[in-house]
Amino acid sequence: AAEAAAAEAGSGSPFARLGVIGCGLMGSGIAEVAARAGLDVAVREIDEPALSAGRKRLTSSLDRGVRGGKLTEADRDAVLARLTFTTDLGDFADRDVVIEAVAENEQLKADIFGALDKVVTRPDAIFASNTSSIPIMKLGMATSRPEQVVGIHFFNPVPVQKLVEIVPSLLTAPATETAAEGFVTGRLGKEVIRSKDRAGFVVNSLLVPYLLAAVRMLESGFAVADDIDRGMVLGCAHPMGPLRLCDLIGLDTIKAVAESMYEEFKEPLYSPPPLLMRMVDAGLLGKKTGRGFHNYTA
Ligand code: 3HC
Repeated sequence: AAEAAAAEAGSGSPFARLGVIGCGLMGSGIAEVAARAGLDVAVREIDEPALSAGRKRLTSSLDRGVRGGKLTEADRDAVLARLTFTTDLGDFADRDVVIEAVAENEQLKADIFGALDKVVTRPDAIFASNTSSIPIMKLGMATSRPEQVVGIHFFNPVPVQKLVEIVPSLLTAPATETAAEGFVTGRLGKEVIRSKDRAGFVVNSLLVPYLLAAVRMLESGFAVADDIDRGMVLGCAHPMGPLRLCDLIGLDTIKAVAESMYEEFKEPLYSPPPLLMRMVDAGLLGKKTGRGFHNYTA
């Protein structure tokens, strides 16, 4: 048993202890998927109110699983027992993998990677970001071990979407990339595609210009929101229309992703249109605030 424990603690051990930084839409989904897969998951938020909101979001999602017959109450309780919630990054010292999922703000993310670098003790720990668009290289350079930093990008809603994009930077070690892929497919049961470290990666590079085109179409008075959405659902069999999808992702996130992509490529189609900017100014961020292009308060 001592040998097994030593092997478990050693650098060749499986990646069983996950830390998730940020318990918003994406972080709570990542933590949920990992805890449901049997991992020991520590979740960190910036303060107690944010932590308690994140815990509530995660618990409601598990309750939804119970109501839908996908989980028993005992399963839900076992999943909750594998989760710990903290405001202290120091609690991440023993983590094998850390996935950062805070807002799309480069400085904030870089500060977190710098702090993590000082805290995490495992020599071959994986430092991952769920960023949609910020270059992984910039986050790697905030640490003393950029060869262990990689993008692991999930899709919303995380418990539903199978895909994860794996994004190595120029300095990511092949062993980190392979370990990240093994973690995502073997441990979390998701499927991966690989992308070069370019703002937007594969999926957002294709999706965001389409979403912004829908916002411009609405803004110009070309068609109303319901017709734009119904057009793509009924005409192209998309699960939801582009404006409803903007509301699901969060208009603040779409704006941040579009800005990163625009900054990288200077492509006008990536530039966020004024209507999107004004809605973000107004706090109309979509489903999470009750109103975006559609109303969710009823
Ligand atoms: N958590 C867990 N399960 C959920 C869920 C959630 N938040 N939302 C929906 N589900 C499950 C439901 O339980 C249901 O499961 P079942 O079929 O086994 O009963 C299934 O998903 C379908 O849900 P609903 O019947 O409630 O609703 P819909 O059929 O309308 O599906 C949807 C909702 C899954 C959101 C679907 O409309 C969809 O896939 N939309 C597209 C979403 C998309 O494109 N996401 C990618 C966004 S881009 C991104 O995230 C990248 C970022 O960087 C910007």
